[in-house]
Amino acid sequence: MSPVRLVKPVAPERMPELLRAMPKAELHMHIEGSLEPEQMFALAQRNSVPLAYASAQAVREAYVFDNLQSFLDIYHAGTLVLKTEQDFYDMACAYLQRAQEDNVTHTELFFDTQTHTGHGLDAQMVVKGLHRACRDAPAKFGMTASLILCFLRHLSEAEAFECLEQIMPVRDRIVGIGLASSEVGHPPEKFAQVFARAKQLGFRLVAHAGEEGPPAYIWGALDVLKVERIDHGVQSMNDPDLIKRLVQDRIALTVCPLSNLKLRVYPSLTQHSIGRMLEAGMVATINSDDPAYFGGYINENFTQTFAALQLGSQQAYQLALNSFNASFIDATERARHIEQLDAVFDTF
Ligand code: ADE
Ligand code: ZN
Repeated sequence: MSPVRLVKPVAPERMPELLRAMPKAELHMHIEGSLEPEQMFALAQRNSVPLAYASAQAVREAYVFDNLQSFLDIYHAGTLVLKTEQDFYDMACAYLQRAQEDNVTHTELFFDTQTHTGHGLDAQMVVKGLHRACRDAPAKFGMTASLILCFLRHLSEAEAFECLEQIMPVRDRIVGIGLASSEVGHPPEKFAQVFARAKQLGFRLVAHAGEEGPPAYIWGALDVLKVERIDHGVQSMNDPDLIKRLVQDRIALTVCPLSNLKLRVYPSLTQHSIGRMLEAGMVATINSDDPAYFGGYINENFTQTFAALQLGSQQAYQLALNSFNASFIDATERARHIEQLDAVFDTF
């Protein structure tokens, strides 16, 4: 691996401008978690779905969470307004437009069909709506986008197999398979067979691990599920052997600081481990997870984290570079994104 370029220091007051201007990839964002309360209300009206809240403001005020599960309950209720292929298209376009404003030039969107088939929707319809938005992304939003289907880990492996079966007719529209939802009590090993099948089918593999769950879940995701990236992975900082493994094998971690703050993984951003992860040589990236629920899109995650931890231009470059290196794009595309990144740092 070539040594990482050294970049010029930038004054702290100019860091937000640099963080905004630099191109970046977002690799950990659940599209259902980008549904803003205003859009939730508009879709509820369009589809005649009753909402338990009087206003978008009241919805926002309800977004106070104690842990992952308290968030997942509210997140699940929000998805009830999604009914048609057009709803999924519109939701994805709203996110892509917002991401473009943050200079995201490539994104890999998580979605979970099991949430929607649980409400009687058709899994392929969900994929078609989201994929149409990804297909339109270069022309409409000047960025590329692809899809990663997450199995819900609180459900059984048999249900994950059923989910995989349902999407096979549209499998060419999905780049990867992931694992999300309630972590503790649902270790990666529960999904060993279905991940092996997904790998055989040629899907790229990722999994949430070590968000709230122990380092053992990260080992399991690597050794049993054979994933290429770990989503969150912050609990790895409690296991020196695991840190070594993640560094040696250059396993990327898609870290989501504002999510960790809102779900009380860390009491404050000043305690967040992302700075220490970079110092240890881990391939960490910054992402928004569920931006409509956690108080910010990707640039807000960057600016708040950089301010809290007093990070600088070198870390900014490293994080953006990591995001492109960890993405599932081809070598030519990767080189094009990194050239654009270098151009911003050349002139800043
Ligand atoms: N689904 C949506 N957001 C999630 C998160 N932060 N962890 C696990 N599953 C999720
Ligand atoms: Zn997530």
